[in-house]
Amino acid sequence: MQMVGRNYFLKPKGAVTVLLLTVTYITSYVLYFSYTTPGQANSYLYWLERKLKVRPSYVYQGASMQEENEETYFPANLRVLSNETCPEKFYEMNGKMSVNVDEINLDKLNLQFSGKVKYGGNWSPEDCIPKWNVGFLIPFRNRHYHLPILLRHLIPMLMIQHIKFTIYVINQEGNQRFNRAMLLNVGYLEALKMKHHDCFIFHDVDHLPENNRNYYGCTDMPRQFRVLLDVNDYSLEYPTFFGGVTGLTTEQFKKVNGFSNEFWGWGGEDDDLYARVNKLGYNVSSATPTRGRYSTLQKNHHQESQNLGRFNLLTSSIERNSIDGLNSLRYQPATIETHKLFTNISVDLQPVRMLKKT
Ligand SMILES: *[C@@H]1O[C@H](CO)[C@@H](O)[C@H](O)[C@H]1NC(C)=O
Ligand SMILES: *[C@@H]1O[C@H](CO)[C@@H](O)[C@H](O)[C@H]1NC(C)=O
Ligand SMILES: *[C@@H]1O[C@H](CO)[C@@H](O)[C@H](O)[C@H]1NC(C)=O
Repeated sequence: MQMVGRNYFLKPKGAVTVLLLTVTYITSYVLYFSYTTPGQANSYLYWLERKLKVRPSYVYQGASMQEENEETYFPANLRVLSNETCPEKFYEMNGKMSVNVDEINLDKLNLQFSGKVKYGGNWSPEDCIPKWNVGFLIPFRNRHYHLPILLRHLIPMLMIQHIKFTIYVINQEGNQRFNRAMLLNVGYLEALKMKHHDCFIFHDVDHLPENNRNYYGCTDMPRQFRVLLDVNDYSLEYPTFFGGVTGLTTEQFKKVNGFSNEFWGWGGEDDDLYARVNKLGYNVSSATPTRGRYSTLQKNHHQESQNLGRFNLLTSSIERNSIDGLNSLRYQPATIETHKLFTNISVDLQPVRMLKKT
């Protein structure tokens, strides 16, 4: 009797064919997956990096990360006079906030805040002199589902903190890849054309703070508000992480020449800003881990594709600092719409030339 079936796996040629087919299949699947759902692909990549310990997990050190004594920190009967500067620690700032991620319609939200927030997303405390006049810059493209959820959460928190604010949504038009950093540069300049601000906070639309003692004002050093994130199991990232929610005074941002304009696609621009900030001799001040906790909005999350060239760009952060940033920024006139709860600065971005090194 003869064997009809063949065992391909014993024959080198057959095995190679099967292997090649499998590799091709997996590769095309991965490519298809990361192309169609870059957000999820990013999350997996991040998860894998952590599992493989490519990203080392650090322990934060230093005085700025010491937890304050939460029991005795806030005087219960704190009173402020209307001719005095608002303190940073109001009694109502009682710590952990509940996070509501349910969908809400913008019109409904407008009603909820009508008479409280002024057109364009402006508010100022009346019972004391606000310490900071903050411009919130929210980089935006197709996140209409997320924006009202963030505003519903953020506005009451800022009111409790007695922060004078204007909320700006910086919308990217056109077909270029998302450029968060360049949008923020545009937002900074356009906001200052309209209003005086002494502090800017760059706030991702899908980040919801979980603790209202995370004070949204600036400090004498660039500030990192976002320390721990729910999707990363609230584990600490690398110590130089400087993304998600960060703040610089108007002066500090000008000094570092803003963000680089070269980061098209997701990632890298925050590390680049960190390099700039460091170069100019600033030390980033950070919220404590208890206060710096954030929830992220996952539903309807269409994340932008990754910028794979970012690692290469990051090797030249220091060299580019003086020739790539606010001083080299060029853009078509922005369209400005005043909505009830925010000012929409919309702009079509195109790559710009770096200035010549002098
Ligand atoms: C505020 O006004 C009170 C009296 O109304 C006065 O005693 C106090 O010195 C004033 N404070 C400041 C900072 O001007
Ligand atoms: C930043 O931190 C370093 C190391 O702790 C310190 O030597 C330096 O003086 C700090 N810089 C500023 C501007 O505070
Ligand atoms: C901002 O304005 C642009 C241009 O009109 C528009 O496409 C975009 O949807 C607006 N964004 C928001 C959040 O209103």
